[in-house]
Amino acid sequence: MIDVNDHPIINKLISTIKKPSWAFPLLLFTLFLILSLQITNNQSGFLTRPVSDVGIRFGSSGSGLCDGSVPDRALKMSIVEFGGVGDGVTSNTAAFRAAVRRMEGVEGGAQLNVPRGRWVTGSFNVTSDFTLFLEHGAVVLGSQDPEEWPIIEPLPSYGRGRERLGGRHISLIHGDGLKNVVITGQNGTIDGRGKMWWDLWWNRTLEHTRGHLVEIMNSNNILISNLTFRNSPFWTIHPVYCRSITSSQAIL
Ligand SMILES: *[C@@H]1O[C@H](CO)[C@@H](O)[C@H](O)[C@H]1NC(C)=O
Ligand SMILES: *[C@@H]1O[C@H](CO)[C@@H](O)[C@H](O)[C@H]1NC(C)=O
Ligand SMILES: *[C@@H]1O[C@H](CO)[C@@H](O)[C@H](O)[C@H]1NC(C)=O
Ligand SMILES: *[C@@H]1O[C@H](CO)[C@@H](O)[C@H](O)[C@H]1NC(C)=O
Repeated sequence: MIDVNDHPIINKLISTIKKPSWAFPLLLFTLFLILSLQITNNQSGFLTRPVSDVGIRFGSSGSGLCDGSVPDRALKMSIVEFGGVGDGVTSNTAAFRAAVRRMEGVEGGAQLNVPRGRWVTGSFNVTSDFTLFLEHGAVVLGSQDPEEWPIIEPLPSYGRGRERLGGRHISLIHGDGLKNVVITGQNGTIDGRGKMWWDLWWNRTLEHTRGHLVEIMNSNNILISNLTFRNSPFWTIHPVYCRSITSSQAIL
């Protein structure tokens, strides 16, 4: 674990986030440039820097999920029970969305298991007191249909899309105003198959700002662990306006 207070760069980043100014968009743009350069040199993964031994810890309130333990939920269901098909072709967007609707507000929380397989999906939202659990060999694949990544409002701090005016594509896994969310598993993978989006960006036919792989906004107590994230259309994990975010053993 890196204590943010001992880490000047992260510290700086966090204090910049707390006090949005012109410096912040500039910083993001610089980061974006660096990341863009990286993707052109490395088609296999968005960022292949393993952080599994250290983890990155944001915030330090030390409560709830922040010790990295995965909570036990009252309800556990498999994506298969919602009609999911892990064949690497069928779109599971409706299945994921139905599962999250079913699991919203369940007393004692709920866990959605994703078994071994290749699960193509468009964007879906997570909910509070919820665990998304990728079993061994489970790969979640981002849909290649931009329509499955609907357009949402730009971030208030920008007031506009970052790459294009107006709205932006929602992230593959999205949350806003949540608490107690866990995204974890037995070393599963979330693969955004972002190459299409980078092509759209480079050939200048992108209509709206790209989405992230995972974005959790205005939320509390978020744990992201034991997963591999790859091929993001844009940035890999984008926690905005959250407190007590823990990310451990995520190989980016
Ligand atoms: C997901 O949440 C966003 C707001 O954060 C909302 O605009 C969108 O409609 C939601 N999507 C679904 C499928 O519920
Ligand atoms: C993390 O993944 C490994 C490898 O599949 C597994 O053995 C371990 O139980 C997982 N840890 C948790 C907390 O689920
Ligand atoms: C986890 O998955 C990554 C890539 O998907 C692999 O390189 C690594 O060896 C796996 N680790 C374990 C403990 O299974
Ligand atoms: C831009 O890239 C997209 C995604 O690969 C492709 O579908 C589209 O035809 C390309 N457009 C041009 C003008 O090259």
